[in-house]
Amino acid sequence: MARNVRATQIEIEAAVEALRDGELVAFPTETVYGLGANAQNPAAVRKIFEAKGRPANHPVIVHLDSPRYLHRWVRELPEPANRLAESFWPGPLTLVLPRAPQVHEVITGGQDTIAIRVPAHPMAQQLLTAFGGGIAAPSANRYGRVSPTRAEHVREEFGESIRIILDGGECQLGLESTIVSFEGEQVRLLRPGSVTAAQIRGVVGDLLLGVGVHSPRVPGGAPTHYAPATPLTIVPAGEIDAQADAASSGGRRVAVLAQRLPLRSHQTVTWINAGRRPESYARDLYSNLRTLDKAGCQRILVQGIPDGERWDAVRDRLLRAATSIAASDDGSASMAVLP
Ligand code: TXA
Ligand code: MG
Repeated sequence: MARNVRATQIEIEAAVEALRDGELVAFPTETVYGLGANAQNPAAVRKIFEAKGRPANHPVIVHLDSPRYLHRWVRELPEPANRLAESFWPGPLTLVLPRAPQVHEVITGGQDTIAIRVPAHPMAQQLLTAFGGGIAAPSANRYGRVSPTRAEHVREEFGESIRIILDGGECQLGLESTIVSFEGEQVRLLRPGSVTAAQIRGVVGDLLLGVGVHSPRVPGGAPTHYAPATPLTIVPAGEIDAQADAASSGGRRVAVLAQRLPLRSHQTVTWINAGRRPESYARDLYSNLRTLDKAGCQRILVQGIPDGERWDAVRDRLLRAATSIAASDDGSASMAVLP
């Protein structure tokens, strides 16, 4: 069912009042749903960490409706950051910037930087504009788990404990924003997302990949993150049918996330064909993982995805969600690891 991507005035007023009262509000962005608090109220931001069970030293992103309030949060805007903001905001790009002196350490995790994002989702824009300030928001899931891409996922994660959940329907992109940081004139990709490395290079020239010695703490850097509760194995693309057969022998229930239909019918296998297009695969990934997680299976098998930069964001999340990666018959890895 299609849902409105705009909230009513009454819904926005209730959400703004809750934020001003120091309460949490879940809201949609074009990437994933966020769990928001008034970024200028440290006690409210601490509630996010309690609700998620997230370690206190993990910094959160501050969301703004436009760069107009940037000076309240950021000490200086490096030149490449300015160009990226002009090219991709509002949109799925987060910039890690030198923080202004007054920014509380609950936001920054005690680091000298702050992550800023201007989301494009109409409902996020409505909320931010009506609130008139920064909203600190990580993804609205419990720590380490799969991010929510629908309002009902937020309810699954937190039950009634989050009073206000703005429902903007399904998130259009489905994976978290691309995150970059700045080292002098150089730009580093910290987390791949739907703004691709090629698009960023198109604006700033060179791009450093991965985490450098001087990089801020790694986003989603814990060994497993974005993970379903059921153990997840990535298997070589050509072996998905054989592996599904083997894993389901003796009547064991197995869940499969593939890019095509099964070659033959497998008993006791729940099979999702997520297709071959990186955009729709990404949009549906978390929702598919939730469905497979609930299918009562002992394992989830994921068919290895193609090489290439268009798949970087999906590959990054799958590698973090995986508890193991099966080798090919010839001994090679089933999926290239990011640099
Ligand atoms: O698409 C998104 O980015 C979503 C929506 C809600 O905006 N948010 C999101 O937040 O994914 P979260 O907290 O789940 O992931 C943000 C990542 C964290 O891993 C955190 O470590 C990193 O951004 N981060 C935040 N501030 C940072 C900073 N100052 N330096 C380096 N990394 C930072
Ligand atoms: Mg998250």
